[in-house]
Amino acid sequence: MDQLNNQPLHQVAQALVSGGKGLLAMDESIPTCNARLRENGIPETALYRQKYRELIVTTSGLEEFISGAILSDETLTSSAAGSKPFAEMLTSRGIMAGIKVDQGTVPMAGVPGEKVTEGLDGLAVRLQNYRRYGVRFAKWRSVTHISTGSPSSAALHFNAQLLARYAAICQEASLVPIVEPEVLMTGAHSLELCHQVTRQFLFELFNALYEHRVDLRAILLKPNMVLPGTDSPDQSSDDEIALATLACLLDRVPAAVPGIVFLSGGQAAKAATKRLNALNQEGQLKGPWKLSFSFSRAILQPVLAYWKGQDQYLPGAQQILLHRSGCNSAACLGNYHP
Ligand code: 13P
Repeated sequence: MDQLNNQPLHQVAQALVSGGKGLLAMDESIPTCNARLRENGIPETALYRQKYRELIVTTSGLEEFISGAILSDETLTSSAAGSKPFAEMLTSRGIMAGIKVDQGTVPMAGVPGEKVTEGLDGLAVRLQNYRRYGVRFAKWRSVTHISTGSPSSAALHFNAQLLARYAAICQEASLVPIVEPEVLMTGAHSLELCHQVTRQFLFELFNALYEHRVDLRAILLKPNMVLPGTDSPDQSSDDEIALATLACLLDRVPAAVPGIVFLSGGQAAKAATKRLNALNQEGQLKGPWKLSFSFSRAILQPVLAYWKGQDQYLPGAQQILLHRSGCNSAACLGNYHP
């Protein structure tokens, strides 16, 4: 950890996406984590949130596939029963700890239906405190959705500015910012429309990152894959999705960015892995960046569904966690065979 603390930020960013490894987003806020526990019949209590995080952190072999874990504030400051803090347990096994630093979304005043992400106030001070736990990177999510009249250019522009300002503050605090502009997959829109909106969001984002003088070599981009809306009558093949996603990224993401770590956005676990694999297959289009994952639901949903909060299912749930992580790691190298 000491060695990493002295590492230049661009090397930390590269390390997070090297060797076919990816990130595990175990950074659900308390309300989101409670909702996921509830959906799986697990009590929504601090004890079960802690047991859930403990299940993940104590899964042996995870470091083979996972380079970094994004934690929530609650997880960063808590410990496994009778043991070291979660962040320390991870870093001692070679998994870098990261922290979600945005404070969620609120409706955007003046632009009905749009949201902005909060959390810039006092961020520099919070980051200094997080660094004391050995955290090496951070995450901020901005979100937009596609519907009639949305997203507005105002929402894309302002959310991009917030992401860029967050990224600049992170780099000043010696943390690698993961920059997450998410276009939600809910809706009846086409693949083409998702392509257009994602492209526009990335255009605003990189303009803002230049404007705020963010070092692009020391960030990771965490976008959505380009997908047709979940209610669209025209569902696309994995290859079509990979092609549309690569075309969009090649158009908008500078080569200086070392890695792109996709969010899963509610895709089924195997679908997300197959699409990541298709993105990494040798094809007509090839980008200069590493293409990896920073999944939450596409790794953890099957784990929760099996575990159900019951001790007798813990070993099996940990096997599922390891298996899904391994599948996504294989997909980073284009070697996933379902
Ligand atoms: P999903 O993979 O479930 O989309 O979560 C990723 C994430 O970190 C959302 O901010």
